Amino acid sequence: MTVTIKIRDNGPYVVEGDFILTDASGNEVPILKKALCRCGGSTMKPFCDGTHSKIGFQGANAAVAESESNPGSSTT
Ligand code: FES
Repeated sequence: MTVTIKIRDNGPYVVEGDFILTDASGNEVPILKKALCRCGGSTMKPFCDGTHSKIGFQGANAAVAESESNPGSSTT
């Protein structure tokens, strides 16, 4: 099955479909919500807790090409 990640306007990444979430060490993280924090303000990271609305988070309206967002760097 295909997993779809939707970017909510000024909000979280919403994952549709089944997936496994791991921490940086590869340990599986229980999926409490399918909305992942994009603003950095959640108290229950990596999940969205609605803080984005309280802090007035404004996300990018569209994907930005790497060369525009961070010239001279790589994604690794
Ligand atoms: S995106 Fe919702 S709390 Fe960060």
